Amino acid sequence: MHIDIITIFPGMFRGFLEESIANRAQQKGLAEIVIHNLRDYSIDKRKSVDDYAFGGGPGMVMTPQPLVDCIESLQKERKYDEIIFLTPDGELFTQALANELSMKNNIAMVCGHYKGIDQRVRDGWITREISIGDYVLSGGELPAAVLTDALVRLIPGVISDESSALSDSFQGDLLDAPVYTRPADFRGMKVPEVLVSGDFAKIAEWLYQASAEKTKKRRPGMIDE
Ligand code: ADE
Repeated sequence: MHIDIITIFPGMFRGFLEESIANRAQQKGLAEIVIHNLRDYSIDKRKSVDDYAFGGGPGMVMTPQPLVDCIESLQKERKYDEIIFLTPDGELFTQALANELSMKNNIAMVCGHYKGIDQRVRDGWITREISIGDYVLSGGELPAAVLTDALVRLIPGVISDESSALSDSFQGDLLDAPVYTRPADFRGMKVPEVLVSGDFAKIAEWLYQASAEKTKKRRPGMIDE
């Protein structure tokens, strides 16, 4: 999978790309994540990428020229399955959407700032608008990192124990059951007996019940669905 991320804050991705999943996927040759500095595409002397909104109102709007020049220059290299704009008014990001996008080969992500990007870019170049939740962040960088992490970890071979990505909360109908590791007794707090019993049928039943109970309490909507 190839992911191009367009941003005015390329430094925000440094740590994210150097550590953990994104790094491992790239080391294994399973993903290629490239950060593009939008200011490199500004044709104005001050390298500006925003301007006042027509019609007034507070906040600046990202201008179409650098964005479209950047997108079109990247499109000369590859054909994108999706050009995603991260925005709080987009469709809500879910595990189902992560599963769908993880099967694509080429994705571009546009990180917005200020009041957003000129509507003509959204109409003419963006193919999908995604929100990571009903709250407003100061830009699309963290949402782009969230999407990248959620997609890349689903690529077969990225996580060593593949079954673990498939058994995540939200992959099935239920949230994950609680997990425990050694020691079996930590400061008098004991691991549930059944988990150390070696009886796999009983363990499976316990895990299912614990998942169902947690889901009913925290996400009753998931059970109704
Ligand atoms: N940009 C700012 N807030 C956002 C959000 N919640 N989701 C996606 N992009 C955003």
